[in-house]
Amino acid sequence: MKSKPKTDTAAKGTASLPAKSRITLKVNGALKQIEVAPWTTLLDALREHLEFTGTKKGCDHGQCGACTVLVNGKRINSCLTLAIMQDGAEVLTIERLAEGEVLHPLQQAFVENDAFQCGYCTPGQICSALGLLGEGKAKSPDGIRELMSGNICRCGAYSNIVAAIEQVSQMEERGDEQ
Ligand code: FES
Ligand code: FES
Repeated sequence: MKSKPKTDTAAKGTASLPAKSRITLKVNGALKQIEVAPWTTLLDALREHLEFTGTKKGCDHGQCGACTVLVNGKRINSCLTLAIMQDGAEVLTIERLAEGEVLHPLQQAFVENDAFQCGYCTPGQICSALGLLGEGKAKSPDGIRELMSGNICRCGAYSNIVAAIEQVSQMEERGDEQ
């Protein structure tokens, strides 16, 4: 009996997938070219394509802030933006903050204020705090609490996180050497 020609639906499905796009990101000061699918988030591009795993995936739905990075100086949830939308952008992740063994003042303040327990939310908290300081709005504990409300800490280290950010905000106001 004549066999029917194969209809490989899986192969057809694959053939109809949109092509990958080559994009350029400037991550932590270095130009990186990667090929990403149209649905690849910036978070997955950083973690899976570029191995910047300091940026954490918590909810993957814009609810927890664990994936916060700075894009062109503004803090964003990297799980909520597609990598192709950020073609040509400057991205800063937690890996860029310390200078060798010397911690960034925010990192130092988190250590001094015991502002973490498990540490999973901490890269996002610190990147978000960096963005907040850049916005010039970290003026009071209440203000910091409000403007950091997108960053969830399941360990409940909130009071110490606010204290750490306030410490750096006050250092900046005094013009302390950082
Ligand atoms: Fe992006 Fe939770 S992983 S907000
Ligand atoms: Fe554990 Fe924040 S330190 S989630």
